[in-house]
Amino acid sequence: MAPLQAALIGGGMIAHDQILPSLYQLQRQGVIGEISVCATEARFLKSLLDSENISKAFPGQSFRPFPNLSDTGVYLDLYKQVIAGLPPRNIVAVAVPDQLHYAVIMEALRHDQHVLTVKPLVLTAAEAAEIEQEASRRGLLVGIEYHKRFDDRSLMARRRYREGWFGEFRLGTACLLEKWYYRHSNFQNWCTVENSDAFTYIGCHYVDLVHFITGLLPVSVSVYGIKDRYPNGNEGFLWTDARVLWNNGASLNVQNALGFPDDAPGSNTQGMVLYCSGQQKGGLLAHSDQYRGLEYSYVRPPEGPGATVYAEPSPDYFQYVDLGGGGLVPVGYGYRSVDFIIRAAVRLESQAGTLEERRQMLRQFDEEGVMATPANSRYNELVIEAGRLSILNGGREVRIQYEGEPAVALA
Ligand SMILES: NC(=O)c1ccc[n+]([C@@H]2O[C@H](COP(=O)([O-])OP(=O)(O)OC[C@H]3O[C@@H](n4cnc5c(N)ncnc54)[C@H](O)[C@@H]3O)[C@@H](O)[C@H]2O)c1
Repeated sequence: MAPLQAALIGGGMIAHDQILPSLYQLQRQGVIGEISVCATEARFLKSLLDSENISKAFPGQSFRPFPNLSDTGVYLDLYKQVIAGLPPRNIVAVAVPDQLHYAVIMEALRHDQHVLTVKPLVLTAAEAAEIEQEASRRGLLVGIEYHKRFDDRSLMARRRYREGWFGEFRLGTACLLEKWYYRHSNFQNWCTVENSDAFTYIGCHYVDLVHFITGLLPVSVSVYGIKDRYPNGNEGFLWTDARVLWNNGASLNVQNALGFPDDAPGSNTQGMVLYCSGQQKGGLLAHSDQYRGLEYSYVRPPEGPGATVYAEPSPDYFQYVDLGGGGLVPVGYGYRSVDFIIRAAVRLESQAGTLEERRQMLRQFDEEGVMATPANSRYNELVIEAGRLSILNGGREVRIQYEGEPAVALA
């Protein structure tokens, strides 16, 4: 079988920081073949090609750019041609703004492509259901790239929680605050009040993780959002405080923002503490997810926004290391997560011949629950839908109902 081709739709920050280098590494290993990248404008593609980190890591590797590098137009629909140009049952990787995921994923499925998408899958449960049905009908994979699941600490916690070592989750807090400078990025053009908010953008990671570890389902969400202006004058809910209640009565507080000081060490601040109870004792599960024990103080200021002389880098999300052989090798759960999903698509194509065999393997992925799929992580879209309804209603409680057609409604 020839290696699968990959088309990456979206060429912004996450494409640069994680998705494209992971695809290059898989290409280097012969797991995938040709890579195309499509963005709205050629300038995005040029900055991917000019990236010093990526060029150093993958000398001699490149992608087919859409539009052409010399083109100065803006293309909102070019991704349709790129997807149509792929032979059936290859891979489309989706890395466009949150509110565009649905259109791109459906386009890919209608052209019989497997899909890897950055989180969140989509913004409503109804759209997620449609994606699930279309993918299942055609025997296609849709893997949602919740990379925190592939952090070994999450997998350790999941295994131990499910073996009963912590008891039952009761009260918890989680936070993920990105640095202030994010406000100056392309975010200001789309992560605005009407499209998204800090909870939708990054809070979903910890909601997903609490389910991933405990197996509990969220049943109620309230999100209080504070609006701030971006440098270009657009308004966004750039600070959010959410309360998520679970089906055993547990409560998780989640704080998110684009507001962690640029001068602070680490590329963000994040972590989670879960207090639990069992066997007449208290259980505790605490993860410091930004401070991972490294303290560096450089002798010259590093380049790039948010880069500080004193730094606490995470070795665990995504780093390039020199293992010899030319170039650099990406390591960390950011890479492992993409690797896992792409290899699942490759397994489907190489080991499951008929539609029924592919469906059987897809059901196995759903049941194992390691990779988030539309069928096994619907709670995420319900939380996001509930969160959007809540934040637009001043933080009112929104309940999630799972019986019948899953739905959300103001309490
Ligand atoms: N921690 C995470 O998991 C994480 C981190 C960052 C971003 N993300 C997700 O990744 C997605 C993209 O975020 P980003 O930070 O890269 O955004 P970005 O604003 O930096 O880049 C968006 C890219 O999408 C492209 N795009 C927009 N509309 C398009 C269209 N119609 N056709 C083709 N390309 C189009 C733009 O040209 C740009 O290259 C979002 O859904 C975001 O939530 C996830």
